[in-house]
Amino acid sequence: MIVCSCNVLSDKDIRTACCADERPRSTGQVYGCLGCSAQCGRCARTIRRIMDEALEAAGGACNGCAADPKS
Ligand code: FES
Repeated sequence: MIVCSCNVLSDKDIRTACCADERPRSTGQVYGCLGCSAQCGRCARTIRRIMDEALEAAGGACNGCAADPKS
């Protein structure tokens, strides 16, 4: 499913970016990981939700990633 029509990013693209070694900590970093940047910003909340779900699914495998705001 396309979640960002400006950059033609799918939910799978977002999940893939969240599983990369350099886990993005913000929606801006997700765009950067995928070689683009925010345009209209309408998708930001959806991308954030997908990020949260992906990081939650990563659970204990997450070492100091975005799920821990102190690191
Ligand atoms: S829909 Fe993603 S930046 Fe416009």
